[in-house]
Amino acid sequence: MMNENIYLPQQAIIEDIIEENSLVNTYVLSFCDSQTNANFSFKPGQFVMVSVPHQGEAPISLSSSASNTNTFSLTIRKTGRLTNCLHTLQAGNTIGVRGPYGQPFPLDQLKHKKLLFIAGGIGIAPLRPLLEYCYANADISEKTSLIYGCKSSDEFCFKHDIKRWQQAKIDCQLTVDKKAGNWEGHVGLVTQHLDEQVIANHNIFLVCGPGIMIQSAIHRLDELGIQREHIFTTLERQMKCGIGICGHCHMDNKLICVDGPVFNGAELPALHNL
Ligand SMILES: Cc1cc2nc3c(=O)[nH]c(=O)nc-3n(C[C@H](O)[C@H](O)[C@H](O)COP(=O)(O)OP(=O)(O)OC[C@H]3O[C@@H](n4cnc5c(N)ncnc54)[C@H](O)[C@@H]3O)c2cc1C
Ligand code: FES
Repeated sequence: MMNENIYLPQQAIIEDIIEENSLVNTYVLSFCDSQTNANFSFKPGQFVMVSVPHQGEAPISLSSSASNTNTFSLTIRKTGRLTNCLHTLQAGNTIGVRGPYGQPFPLDQLKHKKLLFIAGGIGIAPLRPLLEYCYANADISEKTSLIYGCKSSDEFCFKHDIKRWQQAKIDCQLTVDKKAGNWEGHVGLVTQHLDEQVIANHNIFLVCGPGIMIQSAIHRLDELGIQREHIFTTLERQMKCGIGICGHCHMDNKLICVDGPVFNGAELPALHNL
């Protein structure tokens, strides 16, 4: 996206809002300027800086298929000032968007591998473009599986996509922390489902979720002897510039906005900092 002022957002219109659960909406957007919209492209794992005047700006992962040409999606959880405001908006309203930024997943390192996606809560959002890539290019990986955990069954995002992925032989296992209602799927934290058999059937592991979940998933993979080079994760930190200038997002000797947000396990900041 070409802009003289690198901090100046482009206006994007909300085309549609999909309610994923009581706290999370997916916003389908397009840029108001048709040329900007036509030029916009991103890679799985990248993020944009989203803003509303007087409400702030925050990094949000692109959550749609990167091959969609007219629209892109952001899946946003209500957590604070900006995201609460975003949840009051309706189709037809506009927001500011600049980017895309950050390092994407290295697609060349995933080719012909047996991929296991490990997602917790809204951590499925940055993984969705990559899952869509695997869905659209079935021969890209030898095998693709997803273990996705939420506190309860009403929190799962992308329910329709999960059904579609399953029909395309992406093995999707959903698990809830505690069984309630008529839930008949798995129960227990995602890490409890990382048993030796599941791990032995895969050779690349893509982990995203709350920091504590990333820590325990990587710890479990370490225990089972998986080399860190075979693990990828995406990290979150408070950001200001999003482009490597302000230093706000540093973690150990890394800047999450430009060195990440996607990291290989071998180059991750110390696990206790995640
Ligand atoms: C690369 C990246 C991708 C992301 N993708 C998504 C996404 O796809 N969807 C999504 O919903 N969110 C995503 N986030 C998280 C999102 O950017 C934050 O939740 C953001 O702070 C929300 O802004 P806000 O103004 O609504 O909330 P804020 O007012 O910033 O508050 C959000 C939470 O952070 C806490 N907080 C605020 N300031 C600090 C601070 N300085 N240090 C520690 N904690 C603080 C608050 O107490 C609150 O719990 C992403 C973050 C990163 C870095
Ligand atoms: S947010 Fe400014 S350097 Fe990363």
